[in-house]
Amino acid sequence: MFSDRVDFDLQKNQLTQVLEQKREQGTEVIDLTLSNPTQAGIRYPEEELKEALNESCSFHYAPDPRGLRKAREAVAQYYADRSCSVDPEDILLTSSTSEAYAFLFKLLANPGESVLIPRPGYPLFDYLAAMESVRGVPYTLHFDERWVIDLQELQEQVTQDPRALLVVSPNNPTGSFVSKADWTEIAELCSPRSIPVICDEVFFDYPLNGTSRGFDPVAHSDFPSFFLNGLSKTAGLPQLKLSWILIRGPENFRESVRPRLELISDTFLSVQTSVQEALGRILELAPQVQRQILERIRMNLSTLRSIVANTSVDCLRLEGGWNAVLRIPRTLGDEEWVTALLEEVNVLAHPGYFYDFPGEGFLIISLLPPPDDFNRGVESMLDLISHRP
Ligand SMILES: Cc1ncc(COP(=O)(O)O)c(C=O)c1O
Repeated sequence: MFSDRVDFDLQKNQLTQVLEQKREQGTEVIDLTLSNPTQAGIRYPEEELKEALNESCSFHYAPDPRGLRKAREAVAQYYADRSCSVDPEDILLTSSTSEAYAFLFKLLANPGESVLIPRPGYPLFDYLAAMESVRGVPYTLHFDERWVIDLQELQEQVTQDPRALLVVSPNNPTGSFVSKADWTEIAELCSPRSIPVICDEVFFDYPLNGTSRGFDPVAHSDFPSFFLNGLSKTAGLPQLKLSWILIRGPENFRESVRPRLELISDTFLSVQTSVQEALGRILELAPQVQRQILERIRMNLSTLRSIVANTSVDCLRLEGGWNAVLRIPRTLGDEEWVTALLEEVNVLAHPGYFYDFPGEGFLIISLLPPPDDFNRGVESMLDLISHRP
């Protein structure tokens, strides 16, 4: 009765079952996987946001499938603030980054064709690809003091006619920004073969080392490429459901993409009007939220580094984003570690395989939880790991 697109294992895994039991029993669980900024004790400029959304509430509906011009101009301003000049005509609004991927897969790939996705990487890619009947083929990031793309493997993979290459910068969960060298190599591999690059920058505004974000790929995108971002991370407001696609590359590429993406978007018209009307003001307020999140993730990272220093746990070098990767002893499998953490010390962490790490020995934790919870959670985690033979 059902299509292969939803042929996933729908059983609750053991970790979810233990978690539900704990919550039913009223046990306090420290959630080191928290990724929802609205539940992390961030102070939002609520009055200003309410005012902006109230003022923009309209009973008149005049949709533009690309998004209202004034909203696209606000997004262009976001890039101008990054010293990148972009044309609002090359911007298309979506209701989420997930929807942006769905639109781009519809645009670029026929059923059964493939897109290259980073591994380790964001778990939703497998689902997003499957929902569009597209195959996600992983390319590898190796850790060697920092995360680097396996370019030799990628050179081979681009010859297999993938319909797009996904780059996530900074990548979730490895926290690695795409380097200028990797970006140049990617352009050289993809551009002659007309393989568009989709660059997901949802964590771009969250660099962990100092204030500089370093290299900006948008400023170096004269080949067919798309950039994705949105309010969910940039303004810490996932509930407003507004993201965007920026089209980059030669004029003839952008001209051929625009009407096709517009057709896809016109079929759904999914972005609500008042959030579009208020977007300029929301993006003006976003730095207030970004500053707090940056302070939070930097503080938690520093706590984490000092707790794991000189232990059997290693926090891998991170450049940006909200997650940290921990290398842990392989005396237990990752699944066994996370189950033990939850069952014995009431701490929730993600196993590496959740993000498609190739082997055992990795845990992923979020840097977003309130500092007290984070501190207690990491201390308990370390206590358990260091006392387990
Ligand atoms: C790499 C990456 N892309 C996209 C998203 C989702 O963004 P959105 O809420 O806009 O769909 C996430 C969420 O964590 C993510 O990690």
